[in-house]
Amino acid sequence: MIGIFDSGIGGLTVVKEVFRQLPDYRVVYFGDTARTPYGTKSPETITKYALQDAKFLVEQGAKVIVIACHTASSVAADEIKKQIPIPVFEVVSPAIAKAKQITKHKRLGIIGTRATINSEIYQDRLNQGDSGLVIKTQACPLFVSLVEEGWLDKSETKTIAKKYLFPLKREKVDTLILACTHYPLIREVIQQKIGKKVMIVDPAVEVVAKMREFLKHQPEIEHQLIRDADHKFFFSDVVDKTQYIVREWLERPIKVEKHSLE
Ligand code: DGL
Repeated sequence: MIGIFDSGIGGLTVVKEVFRQLPDYRVVYFGDTARTPYGTKSPETITKYALQDAKFLVEQGAKVIVIACHTASSVAADEIKKQIPIPVFEVVSPAIAKAKQITKHKRLGIIGTRATINSEIYQDRLNQGDSGLVIKTQACPLFVSLVEEGWLDKSETKTIAKKYLFPLKREKVDTLILACTHYPLIREVIQQKIGKKVMIVDPAVEVVAKMREFLKHQPEIEHQLIRDADHKFFFSDVVDKTQYIVREWLERPIKVEKHSLE
């Protein structure tokens, strides 16, 4: 199976992309809803949780893993790659590659959770070599709650987006990475407030494209993946909203199961 995990429900944006680009394969998803959010936690706690999430997916039969969560990708990907014996994809590298490819004036903006922005992984990676890039980052912690409340198009969301994005607009970024699972769901508001000429990178699209390429060139791994639609969706806590959101976001009748990692 293709294993995908996230701190909660946000990683469903990556599942949606897997269903679009790799529709033949069975997916096993784990959302750590009991311990979400990760974006406000320390690197030690995030790494501990993310490792447990990844190990659970391996136990379930995953043959490749996608860390859908940007916070976990930014803070814990190296440790996960060290400890997990199967290919692991994270969302940071493919997003960076795409942003570098499309920026016209080398002015990049990155928005994410506090933990993602504080990790400084984007500055570290982008500044390797003499990049000449101007990089402006901004934590947008309220976006996660707004999306989970379904406030995708409310005036309050627009006001908050305008405030968060103003410093990036002032820096005249020409490319913006949506470095959080939830942000693609308010992409239109973000585009409106950052300006219509700014190019937006959706890391979900990029990470799945990278995995698709990988599977093309690694038939021995591709052959291990089950080809059917008997997907498994586990969450460490399940409330009425969980089932509802999974169905709404993925637009198919998927049953969720509860699995605690405690
Ligand atoms: N999934 C997280 C991310 O992409 C957002 C939610 C959280 O803070 O846990 O960074």
